[in-house]
Amino acid sequence: MSEELNINKKADKATQYADLIPQLKGLITGETDTIANISNLMAALKQTFNFLWVGVYFVKNDELVLGPFQGPIACTRIKKGKGVCGSAWEKRETIVVKNVEEFPGHIACSSDSKSEIVLPAFKNGEVALVLDIDSEELATFDDTDKKYLEQVIQLIESVL
Ligand code: SME
Repeated sequence: MSEELNINKKADKATQYADLIPQLKGLITGETDTIANISNLMAALKQTFNFLWVGVYFVKNDELVLGPFQGPIACTRIKKGKGVCGSAWEKRETIVVKNVEEFPGHIACSSDSKSEIVLPAFKNGEVALVLDIDSEELATFDDTDKKYLEQVIQLIESVL
């Protein structure tokens, strides 16, 4: 495994994601530990795109519980159906929020967060965790992020 990421930060977002995905795959190849792998995936996303916050929440009983992340300290537990994370868990689908102030029930872990994307990852047909990414800018996330982050979700699912 190479321990350096090789990304052209001047390239457009889609190109950066397309360059990153195979390197993410390389990062987790040969390692089976779930926390170690997810930790490195979160660090690689943060390092590449410098998002405000990138991390996961694991489904544990009837709550989401904070897992590996990069960014400011965050809420540790979120109930099903609450906030963007709990809604993505309940709906079993990706949620893109262009402006968090317009999302009813948004949980503001950081007042700097302006937009957000949350994607569920599945194990045995059930949501096992959600990947949450926050941005300091409005409307950071679109279909390009959704498309490539769903590939990141497949990598995460391969290590669950
Ligand atoms: N904003 C999220 C809570 C998690 S933090 O952003 C890290 C939500 O509404 O679910």
